[in-house]
Amino acid sequence: MAFKPNNPFLLTSYAGPEYFCDREKETDRLLNNLLNGVNTTLLSVRRMGKTGLLKHVSYHLREQKVICIYIDIYATQNLREFTIALLNGIWEAVPSKSSFGKQFMAFIKNIRAIVSFDPVSGQPQLSLEMGNAKTYAHSLATIFQLLEKQQQPLVVLIDEFQQIDAYPEKTVEALLRTHIQQLQYTHFVFSGSNKHLLTSTFGDIKRPFYMSTQLVDLKPIEAEAYSTFIRRHFEAGGKQLSDDALNEILRFSKRHTYYTQAVCNRLYAQGPKKPEITDVLKIGDQLLLEQEAVFFQYRQLLTPAQWRLLGAIAVEEKVYNPTAGQFLKHFELGAASAVQRSLAALEQKEMIFKENNDKGSFYQVYDCFLSRWLEKSTYSLPPAY
Ligand SMILES: Nc1ncnc2c1ncn2[C@@H]1O[C@H](COP(=O)(O)OP(=O)(O)OP(=O)(O)O)[C@@H](O)[C@H]1O
Ligand SMILES: [Mg+2]
Repeated sequence: MAFKPNNPFLLTSYAGPEYFCDREKETDRLLNNLLNGVNTTLLSVRRMGKTGLLKHVSYHLREQKVICIYIDIYATQNLREFTIALLNGIWEAVPSKSSFGKQFMAFIKNIRAIVSFDPVSGQPQLSLEMGNAKTYAHSLATIFQLLEKQQQPLVVLIDEFQQIDAYPEKTVEALLRTHIQQLQYTHFVFSGSNKHLLTSTFGDIKRPFYMSTQLVDLKPIEAEAYSTFIRRHFEAGGKQLSDDALNEILRFSKRHTYYTQAVCNRLYAQGPKKPEITDVLKIGDQLLLEQEAVFFQYRQLLTPAQWRLLGAIAVEEKVYNPTAGQFLKHFELGAASAVQRSLAALEQKEMIFKENNDKGSFYQVYDCFLSRWLEKSTYSLPPAY
């Protein structure tokens, strides 16, 4: 899994601990939970680093020779596809020559899974015939039985778990819950980004996942840890960042992991040997300009009132009380009730998110670069009062 990338600031995938910044506490917590039978829900806004963390945890588990099954269910639409994803995850994780691998091959023959080849990657893939949900529910039960039969600790990491709320079969959570409760050797991390959906799945007393997992809420990496990481990689590449340049990277990208990585990646690739703050500003402008066509499209998708509110939130960065008189008046947003409606629409479209910190809960523009662009663009609003 580990490889040496040309640019140490990755924008996709995972290349081993060397290129992974911090997350020590979260990694320890997940590893501890997994090895002690506590199932965990990992939660954060998009692009904060959940998938990266899951890969980091897998890396450590595999070092300890624990079989670690990772599945991303973002593209799955129903229980059948979920079952297929799980089968493929197991197939990938279990060495084919081991006794477990042999049992697995016998098992997929038995349930008449079909082996085909991915036209793009050429990788073999499993699929299942269309049938009724009962068949897949049964398959799921037998898959878990097969895992347990190994009588060794096994880990299943399910990424984009909120997707199960979109399945037509509304019983999937209940089904999973029933199985998961009975498993002795197999433990899970459920990772997802849509807070509403995850909170409804896991937080509602009437819903089955309630109280069944421990929550880990992934926040931005601390400034000190990120600074050390960034400086170390620039130095390893023979480059020296000034303090101001480093602070500007963290300010501009709000320490939202993907955006911080994107600025660093570009500055590392294109900046001078001794990047100064002006170089960071230039890179920032360049990144915003590249995205401009997308930002204009967002504008088409929103009503003028929603767009205006989005601009106001961008300028303020964090809005704790979006219906406060001063905020409405300053940005000429109209009535509080209309702003409430726009807020709901923007949140639903994932243009903004609601988060908590020690000062309370606030709204922020989801896409950090869009936020910076709105602040700067001629369409934006007067500066903060
Ligand atoms: N601790 C880290 N150190 C360095 N880079 C990281 C770290 N965590 C994540 N990244 C990088 O940041 C980017 C976003 O992370 P990732 O894809 O893990 O986020 P995510 O929370 O899974 O997002 P989404 O909800 O959209 O799936 C990726 O390019 C990843 O390589
Ligand atoms: Mg992810």
